Amino acid sequence: MISDGDYFIIKTPTGDNGKSQMLDLEGIFPKIQPLYLEIGSGKGEFISSYSIQNPAFNILGLEAASKRINNTLKKLSPDRHPNVRLMRVFVDESIKDIFPAESVSGVFIQHPDPWPKRKHHRRRLIQPGFLNALAHILKPDAQIQISTDHSGYAAWILEEFLANPCYISVFDDPLRQQSTFEDHITTWFEAEQRRQGFDPQFMLFKRI
Ligand SMILES: C[S@@+](CC[C@H](N)C(=O)[O-])C[C@H]1O[C@@H](n2cnc3c(N)ncnc32)[C@H](O)[C@@H]1O
Repeated sequence: MISDGDYFIIKTPTGDNGKSQMLDLEGIFPKIQPLYLEIGSGKGEFISSYSIQNPAFNILGLEAASKRINNTLKKLSPDRHPNVRLMRVFVDESIKDIFPAESVSGVFIQHPDPWPKRKHHRRRLIQPGFLNALAHILKPDAQIQISTDHSGYAAWILEEFLANPCYISVFDDPLRQQSTFEDHITTWFEAEQRRQGFDPQFMLFKRI
């Protein structure tokens, strides 16, 4: 019998030189259907629910921490989540070496680490190089939903996306207090931050 880990976890392909190689997307999911990414999938509340709500999408969770991947595995079963896979990877601009050009239909980034100290801002996920790499792998019109409860990072994210000619905000008022989804899925981190009085802001961008 295969364990859930064997079923759900895919290894980042690496070449002899140790560098990331392109994924063979057709070999990963049982069905070929639009691919969505969740970057920093955390404990898996979102990916385990969204995949059931959207069986016609394939969803790949990219998460740097093994512990978080293990938390997510506890919420998944092969019969209910055939359209989910997980990859342990630290996402940065090398994402363009893993996914083919124009292969991704949408991205979710919920509560990316804000790195609040100025000297740590360079560690933030949202950087010009990353946004260019993301634009490369996204299909035209693909949407990127981002939420954060850190107002400084929200302003940073907005500035970086709007400075990049590959993206526009879907809404005229780009920083929203309400989720841009009707069927919003509250993650563990969102619930915890709300409890402490830090409400998230939501943004929705489109690859043009
Ligand atoms: C604040 S938590 C939010 C988790 C989840 N999205 C949620 O809303 O509950 C940030 C998550 O992103 C992961 N993470 C941070 N930087 C990452 C990166 N560059 N690549 C992949 N995962 C990352 C962390 O390990 C952590 O699980």
